[in-house]
Amino acid sequence: MSSSELFREPSWRGLRPALPEYVAAEPAVTDFICRTLGEYGAISQLLLGGCAVGMFRFQPAGGDAKLVKLVPESRRSSMMQAEDIATWLAARDAPVVAALPGYPVWDGDYGIVVMPYLHGRRVEASEQDMALLGRSVAQVQKKLASHPDRLRWERATAERLADLMVVRSSLATGRLSCGPNPERLATLARDPMLDFVLQDMERVPLHGDLNPGNVLIVDGKAILLDLEDVFHSVLPPILELVLAIERYVLVVVENDAHAVSAGRAFVKAWQSNMGVATVTGSTDLVRVFRSLALRSLCVLASAEQHGAAMPDEEWNKFFLLEQLAGRRAHAIALIFEEGVA
Ligand SMILES: Nc1ncnc2c1ncn2[C@@H]1O[C@H](COP(=O)(O)OP(=O)(O)O)[C@@H](O)[C@H]1O
Ligand SMILES: [Mg+2]
Repeated sequence: MSSSELFREPSWRGLRPALPEYVAAEPAVTDFICRTLGEYGAISQLLLGGCAVGMFRFQPAGGDAKLVKLVPESRRSSMMQAEDIATWLAARDAPVVAALPGYPVWDGDYGIVVMPYLHGRRVEASEQDMALLGRSVAQVQKKLASHPDRLRWERATAERLADLMVVRSSLATGRLSCGPNPERLATLARDPMLDFVLQDMERVPLHGDLNPGNVLIVDGKAILLDLEDVFHSVLPPILELVLAIERYVLVVVENDAHAVSAGRAFVKAWQSNMGVATVTGSTDLVRVFRSLALRSLCVLASAEQHGAAMPDEEWNKFFLLEQLAGRRAHAIALIFEEGVA
């Protein structure tokens, strides 16, 4: 894996993605999609954070809406793998959405994925929604554990971590200097307390990118979208839990009591659906949160090193998350406290 592949352009840059907005698609795109589907209907383009992405809602006159994704050739391999995983999981009743039979197809420079359109909403930082999320995350992880490609995913994960460690040591030694605050980045890279490899912990295949844009609540169920990180995310499950708590709870809810009740609902639901006795063992959780932020900063550094323009806002997001963990240490301890009903 080359370091340039460590980074995938996110659909949103912020921390709290709204649901998409919709605008009428251009006639040429409408024609292309209708021809591909062999059906006619109204087509609108999704805007995420105000930006057009290659995603469309197709509404035929008398049937169910579909979501159409146009994927560039550069993402072909990861998209094909992600769609295979989605199909495999959906066939085992996991809470994901799979492409309709016959998709993806390739037409010239684009891959076309068509899937059922989900009328969903974002996950809220409530006990109910967080319990739904914990349950779905556990269901997906449990299925992924027996996926036939697991060994290959383990190798890809090891390669990716090795690439990130090279970036980290370049930052630590000053050979690489990136972002709006290179000194701070170097200090974090040198911090021996931070460890995103977690060598001694047991690893399982994870969703790998449980940000709030990658889940929809549909008919009382949390549906996990976007499986493009699974095949390099065979990692300790605590990393998935910590990311979810950070993004769905701590960045959204300032009040500690509220954060603790929502966070605990997530952890408990995950734990009971996984059937595991302990979630954290003796792990220092604030360190895990901070290490996750460092990992993301290393991904940005790698992207910048390979010529991607990375706005300050994106760097600052992870500097902020690194600090958030220390500030919310009390809530984090209570969220993951074991042996309390
Ligand atoms: N099947 C679907 N039905 C309805 N909306 C969807 C569907 N798939 C994705 N979306 C919307 O598009 C957003 C981005 O989808 P995602 O699969 O995560 O794409 P990306 O790879 O660009 O991140 C989601 O947050 C969701 O709002
Ligand atoms: Mg996504």
